[in-house]
Amino acid sequence: MSKMIGILTSGGDSPGLNAAIRGVGKALLGRYGMRVIGFRDGFRGMMENRTQLLDSAALSGILTLGGTILGTSRDKPYAMPVAGKLMDMTGVIVENYRKHHLDALVCLGGGGTQKNAYHLMKQGLNVITLPKTIDNDVALTDVSFGYDTALGIATEAVDRLHSTAHSHHRILVLELMGNKAGWLALGAGIAGGADVILIPEIPYDVKQVAAAIMRRSHSGQGFSIVAMAEGAVSREDAARLAEGGKGKDKKKKEQKQQAQERIADSKPGNSLQLARQLEELTGLESRLTILGYLQRGGTPSAGDRLLATRLGTACADLINKGEFGVMVAARGDGVKAVPLKDVVGKRKTVPLDHDWVKSARSVHTCFGD
Ligand code: F6P
Repeated sequence: MSKMIGILTSGGDSPGLNAAIRGVGKALLGRYGMRVIGFRDGFRGMMENRTQLLDSAALSGILTLGGTILGTSRDKPYAMPVAGKLMDMTGVIVENYRKHHLDALVCLGGGGTQKNAYHLMKQGLNVITLPKTIDNDVALTDVSFGYDTALGIATEAVDRLHSTAHSHHRILVLELMGNKAGWLALGAGIAGGADVILIPEIPYDVKQVAAAIMRRSHSGQGFSIVAMAEGAVSREDAARLAEGGKGKDKKKKEQKQQAQERIADSKPGNSLQLARQLEELTGLESRLTILGYLQRGGTPSAGDRLLATRLGTACADLINKGEFGVMVAARGDGVKAVPLKDVVGKRKTVPLDHDWVKSARSVHTCFGD
């Protein structure tokens, strides 16, 4: 009997997921003569045993499609909302793995998915993962698929804002995705020539941002573009977050909670507040654009299709060799199987001395520090 492999996509969707499903699936079917089924909507569908046969017809014509043909969810095996309660559904998922006589489970996702996959690996399942996220923050891979497409969309947004900012002599703040890592705002900010780039890794001082904008204004540049990651925080909020963690001081804890709520609950809150503060401090009209889910939607770029196909087909090779408990990471032009235990619990944030940061500073980009 030929081997049976399961595939699921989990976490936020990302351009390139279908290209990866196709890469894994076609190589498993055609090259190794295995059979493939998909689970719908991530770990939830695996728990509810909702499957879809991935035969060559199902894998055909999906390379260029955005989203994921399998659907996705953010549900975790060990804390899944069931009948209004968070339940540990690991046992049911393991049972369904056995029911389908799976030889391996391929999980496509970001940091959370790597953790969930590792959890299932520890239950004895043959798990292998691929890194996807537009945030590009999965540890131990050069890059994750989805990032290149989002980078292109975000850069085009910066380009388009330039002409309107220039015409109206305005400050235009562009909020981009990236809650904990600033790769998208940094990359698009550099590629689009943003005057200010604000990322979670570098807490900003609004007065420094206003001063940089005023310097431009005095030198005859009456407009400025600010590329801001959704998770960028002011120095005050960063200090409150750090302070609140220390000691038992109730007031500090409350301040930390307030800062966390402001950051987590009202994502546009920070960027809207920044646009208002900049208007007040500079006297220049300011406007806010939130690019939101446009960054994740639509056709994957050529770069993401290529990366997803490379990683997907390499994943099939590893399955054939019986190498499990690993993430198929991109390393230069090649791939590397990285043990899941080394990936889990880490996030690839922007190092403060990263070359991209240095380059941006060299062309006088302000980071608000
Ligand atoms: O993980 C990718 C991402 O797009 C982040 O950039 C963003 O903060 C988050 O997902 C949004 O999550 P959701 O799709 O659950 O709203």
